[in-house]
Amino acid sequence: MKIQENISLLPHNTFRMDVKARVFAEYSSVEELRALLERYRGEKILHIGAGSNLLFTKDFDGVILHSAMCRARCVSEDNDHVWIEADNGLVMDELIDQLCDMGISGLENLSYIPGEVGASAVQNVGAYGVEAKDVIETVRAIAKEDGTERVFTNAECRYGYRDSVFKNELQGKYVITHVVFRLNKHFEAKLDYGNLRSEAGDNPTPTTVRNAVIGIRKQKLPEVSEIGSAGSFFKNPIVSRDTYETLTRQIRDDRVPHYDQEGGVKIPAAWLIEQCGWKGKKVGGAQCYEKQPLVLVNTGSATPKDIMDLAAAICWDVKDKFGIEISPEVNYI
Ligand code: EPU
Repeated sequence: MKIQENISLLPHNTFRMDVKARVFAEYSSVEELRALLERYRGEKILHIGAGSNLLFTKDFDGVILHSAMCRARCVSEDNDHVWIEADNGLVMDELIDQLCDMGISGLENLSYIPGEVGASAVQNVGAYGVEAKDVIETVRAIAKEDGTERVFTNAECRYGYRDSVFKNELQGKYVITHVVFRLNKHFEAKLDYGNLRSEAGDNPTPTTVRNAVIGIRKQKLPEVSEIGSAGSFFKNPIVSRDTYETLTRQIRDDRVPHYDQEGGVKIPAAWLIEQCGWKGKKVGGAQCYEKQPLVLVNTGSATPKDIMDLAAAICWDVKDKFGIEISPEVNYI
């Protein structure tokens, strides 16, 4: 295990906030994780993945844990499926790349999302019509309190849109160490989202779908290696049908983009933000991204306050203009 004190978190968050952590500890096995949990019991502990869905708002006066476990293995198979167990610290896109090479499908629509396996199971990452929950079979986790292991079934994870039990009742209580994905040997492409079908070409394979997704993402979203960001900053709001109909009357246009959902209508936050005129606008070093206003970026000099001020101003304007509340998907730390 590797323990560092008073280190900069700059390399550990994709927003590139230059804040410090009192302790940064990395483990390479479940035994090491248990030892760290024992050693720092009672202290403020935050487990991070690639730091691609959080905003450090100030120095972190506690212990940051990170996993250096990054393997995957086949744990079972039948005629149609393969069950792959992946370590929490494996970069999701590396896993997807390998699976596509082997012709194993189910995760290809999630290509190029920054982040590691453990976090994907906490926040139920999703893109292009697929969510992690569609292929998660079980999640293995260690209780922070006493180091015991618990296996959660998919149902027990209580997945929802960018949501799970680990973001609610069990927030901060468990460290997910492994995720078992139930994947397919026979490919059935999921191409109904946006222009994915035309981009994937005829006779799609997991790899051609992966490449199409990467192409679309590269056109719309900033490269985290070049521009600081945490992907989508806000969640898409799900409103009642009444609210949606009021909105179409308000703007005198029935072409308000929307997706019917169980329990309401999902409106793209990107559209609401663009209507409020925020696309490309800046507050200090923080900017609402020109190509996809759901994303806030660090133009190089953004402080945590710049990002929070920009986010708050956008939320306020959307609420003021449309009466709809949008909330951050990014976790403020
Ligand atoms: N739109 C605009 N203006 C824009 C861009 C988009 O009005 O400049 C509207 C359009 O109506 C468009 C709609 O927003 O049809 C949806 O846009 P997009 O397909 O880009 O998807 P999104 O709903 O904005 C979600 C995820 C993304 C994911 C894409 C594709 C959330 C919070 N975000 O964005 O996830 O890549 O769908 O599936 O659900 C991420 O989580 O970091 C992320 C990028």
